[in-house]
Amino acid sequence: MSILPPLHGTYNVEKEWHEGEPFRWERVHPEFTWYETGKVNMTYECVDRHVNDGKGEKTALWYISDAKEETWTYRELQSEVNAWANVLRKRGVQKGDFVFIFLPKHPYCHIAMLAAVKIGAAVGPLFEAFMEEAVKDRIYDCDGEYLITSEEFLERVPEKELPSLKTVFVTDKHVDGYISITSEAEEESTESETEWVDLDDGVNIHYTSGSTGKPKGIIHAHRVMIQQYQTGRWVLDLKETDVYWCTAHPGWVTGTVYGVFAPLLNGVTTVIHGGRFSAEAWYEVMEKAKVSVWYSAPTAFRMLKAAGENTRKRYDLSSLRHILSVGEPLNPEVIHWAFEVFGLRIHDTWWMTETGAQLIANLPTRDIKPGSMGRPIPGVQAAVLDEEGKEVATGELGHLAIRADWPALMKEVWKNEEKYRSYFPYGKEWYLAGDLATMDEDGYIFFQGRSDDMINSSGERIGPFEVESKLLEHGAVQEAGVVGKPDEIRGEIVKAFITLNNTYEESAYLLEELRSFVKRGLAAHAAPREIEVLDELPKTQISGKILRRKLKERDSTPG
Ligand code: WT7
Repeated sequence: MSILPPLHGTYNVEKEWHEGEPFRWERVHPEFTWYETGKVNMTYECVDRHVNDGKGEKTALWYISDAKEETWTYRELQSEVNAWANVLRKRGVQKGDFVFIFLPKHPYCHIAMLAAVKIGAAVGPLFEAFMEEAVKDRIYDCDGEYLITSEEFLERVPEKELPSLKTVFVTDKHVDGYISITSEAEEESTESETEWVDLDDGVNIHYTSGSTGKPKGIIHAHRVMIQQYQTGRWVLDLKETDVYWCTAHPGWVTGTVYGVFAPLLNGVTTVIHGGRFSAEAWYEVMEKAKVSVWYSAPTAFRMLKAAGENTRKRYDLSSLRHILSVGEPLNPEVIHWAFEVFGLRIHDTWWMTETGAQLIANLPTRDIKPGSMGRPIPGVQAAVLDEEGKEVATGELGHLAIRADWPALMKEVWKNEEKYRSYFPYGKEWYLAGDLATMDEDGYIFFQGRSDDMINSSGERIGPFEVESKLLEHGAVQEAGVVGKPDEIRGEIVKAFITLNNTYEESAYLLEELRSFVKRGLAAHAAPREIEVLDELPKTQISGKILRRKLKERDSTPG
């Protein structure tokens, strides 16, 4: 295995934090305003602090879509956030409430989140491609009272099935029967009181798939900012002069933590790109905004690779100095490709919705071993454990575990104490990720798969149970077993094995109908790209549970 030397990076983490005494997270606290007062607010630290520090004229957000381009300085962002915060407050939103946000990638999505957080609410950003049922499940689970959305998304909000929903705001100017938050904001003051909260008060909720049941709500508290800020400096290597682009939508935890909070906490310019993926559009964004730090995912890199070097060559990407990846295994092949076409190594990072921030990473100052996710960052200890919770020998396969707790660890699983406890099967000391890994003699960690049936398609975590349940709602399906099937571009695709009820017969039309049934009900990324009809599904002898493992094996052995 080759060890590639780092090419850049001027923070020397080792030097900055390890000289003298080992790093402790408390050393970051004085970076924040709340260090003096004990009271905290994420929005204050993301926005107001920079304006107070004389950085009001700096560009905070730079929005680029096919149709238009907009920039917002930190001062403009502050004014808009304040005006929206005033509207929300007037309309009844209070500290501790949930405010759901269902918007496309646009500065309004950032503003909505920051405004709600400013007044002490916890935000629930919903992925822009969610369909009706995914939206419903989440808001319903939280008894959500407030939603900020847009006219074009309203048809995917089943208001009648959401009795808790009191107020729906839209970002458009006039929509009959809805409160236009933008119009009302125009009438509001551009100053607004910050609701000072405690470090342990909730700031956001993200739903994530488990291997059983519906997605669970993972709640984070304001204290996450300690680690989000610090990893922004250490891992993303953010400097004042950077133009930074995280390609994820805030509906995914990466898009919230590293698309909204971490870059703003670090006071950099954040690029927001609206619209669908195309290699041309992405390169154009990078060229136009002179993106210097770029955080994306292996599937996107593989798609860019597939678009070919000639496409890449048409753009001037000389501003790019640091590339990072998250969400799924980063193939060495992709690292080599990036080195050829960008002259840069992609730095992998590992974390989860539940962990709230990066825990394992290839820091810019450290050597990369292609195929490894890197090493735990300072202040984090990782281990590979056996079934009894004991560390395995170097190089042996086991369960990836992190010593609890680090500042960004989830505060709770909403209304599910038992689920929270399930992450700590060996007691409070170790958080268990559900990933299988090996660690080499230098402490580099290699992802080896999940220990459960979770599917990872294009970096999105999909629980097979959700897809199976959806399929069973269709009259044609008698039984369903859903697994991840290896795929060159997406890492895995969702594959469903089904048996049909006897009045139905297999046809291309029916399979397409089932696919779009899941797509309409859940979301496009959860819809099985392949459906195979079998006479019967493999099951355990005693309990009759469907054996997903067998289905998976069947898929990887030819014939
Ligand atoms: C799962 C968490 C918050 C990050 C985005 C995904 C997988 C994450 C890597 C990586 C291989 C990775 C793990 C993890 N994963 N990063 N660098 N290499 N696998 O967050 O949706 O909560 O999923 O994504 O399996 O447990 P998520």
